[in-house]
Amino acid sequence: MIPLPLSTIAEITGGIRHGPPDPVADGPVTDDPVVDDPVVEDPVVTGPVVIDSRAVEPGALFAALKGERVDGHAFAAGALAAGAAGVLAQHPVDGPCVVVDDVQEALGRLARAVLERLPDVTVVAVTGSAGKTSTKDLIGQVLSGAGPTVHPPGSFNNEIGLPLTVLRADAATRHLVLEMGARGIGHIAYLTGIARPDVGVVLNVGTAHVGEFGGRENIALAKGEMVEAVPPGGTAVLNADDPLVSAMASRTQGEVVTFGRSPGAAVRAADETLDEQGRARFTLVTPEGAAPVALRLHGSHAVPNALAAAAAARAAGLATGAIAEALSAAVPVSRWRMEVTERADGVTVVNDAYNANPDSTRAAIDVLVHLARGRRAYAVLGEMAELGDSSMAEHARIGQHVARSGIAGFVVVGANAAAMAEGAGQVASWTGECVQVDDVGAAVTVLRERLAPRDVVLVKGSRVAGLERVAEAILAEDGR
Ligand SMILES: Nc1ncnc2c1ncn2[C@@H]1O[C@H](COP(=O)(O)OP(=O)(O)OP(=O)(O)O)[C@@H](O)[C@H]1O
Ligand SMILES: [Mg+2]
Repeated sequence: MIPLPLSTIAEITGGIRHGPPDPVADGPVTDDPVVDDPVVEDPVVTGPVVIDSRAVEPGALFAALKGERVDGHAFAAGALAAGAAGVLAQHPVDGPCVVVDDVQEALGRLARAVLERLPDVTVVAVTGSAGKTSTKDLIGQVLSGAGPTVHPPGSFNNEIGLPLTVLRADAATRHLVLEMGARGIGHIAYLTGIARPDVGVVLNVGTAHVGEFGGRENIALAKGEMVEAVPPGGTAVLNADDPLVSAMASRTQGEVVTFGRSPGAAVRAADETLDEQGRARFTLVTPEGAAPVALRLHGSHAVPNALAAAAAARAAGLATGAIAEALSAAVPVSRWRMEVTERADGVTVVNDAYNANPDSTRAAIDVLVHLARGRRAYAVLGEMAELGDSSMAEHARIGQHVARSGIAGFVVVGANAAAMAEGAGQVASWTGECVQVDDVGAAVTVLRERLAPRDVVLVKGSRVAGLERVAEAILAEDGR
């Protein structure tokens, strides 16, 4: 973060500066000069801003959030002892702090104020139903070649994670790459109110969180708030292959740049092929030229993400050749998204267990089928959460998709995913085996009994399913 004294943080957040306890008031009267020392009175935060006291470094600001289970205020003393310059809190703590009504909102105000002090930073923001983190990671890696870029791994896309990411920027930062998520109307608008995108990317309007939104049209309304926030002179990067996204062109004051496989897209892929590992190669075509790309990421669904990243990087001023080179060098940086690992005995594990919705699950099954050509394939799938009324039907459809793909084995994990097994059972032509298990442990047992050298296993489910543990257990055996 740019260095800010606690008094300024209090001004920005509308908070009240408290502590440290005044030894003059509490103890015997002395003329100890330390009391009047402005450095002691007004510590300077140099960052980072953290919500986990274990991540405190000297000069940090510890934001004490009240969670459902834990109250961050209980860790304030520990944070200060570890070197935090101060605490952002909802009530006074024993030490230097700024007391605000709402710590989360204060983080947003602080982030906005820090960005206002960094006028040279280009803000690139990504939203969409699937692929935000993957695309943010690509954009971050491409832009890093052109100057200091803030793009932390992981999925910091909400009203807490986004300001924390913004607050990592400092005077040296040239690009800030942000992920923006939404579970309802107005969520993205809140986030763009903190960080107005110079380049706003909308990837797709799918079915993730459709239960909470109440329909895909509402998802489109919500995601479109991204391009509404792009100012004149900025760029809205829109998916030409997704009609609900390309229709957002009328909602922005920025320049519209489309990406996709459609021939009419401004930034597009030509001559797309997949290698035997399921990694895409294509010619990146932009209005300025063309250059070859060979992705290291697995799955053809990485192509639209790469095209979106290319369009965003182009809007930030990069040339086609440099973008293509950087895309070809980019690696997966956030965990459990299409991590393809080979065991000593040739068993290949595709760990895509970070989350799941119908679109990303179909994409993952397609990668499994592609990777497995000539080998036995197993899909280990857990529930896809937050699908609302369509949940049963969506799970059944995925089960049918698995069975139609003709793979050898299907392990359905957990009661909430049971409809997948029913769906698979409806495909009479399928000769593979479907096993339903209660939990991760049972899934590992089933796989242990069946896996043979060179088999391919896909592991995927929503975060609540925690199926990365299946992938980790299978890989830990390392082919004994
Ligand atoms: N363009 C895409 N279409 C379909 N699936 C995708 C696409 N890009 C990535 N995925 C898959 O979607 C899953 C989630 O990817 P990622 O974490 O990048 O998405 P996200 O939008 O950030 O998700 P979240 O809403 O949980 O933050 C992964 O399984 C990934 O392989
Ligand atoms: Mg994400």
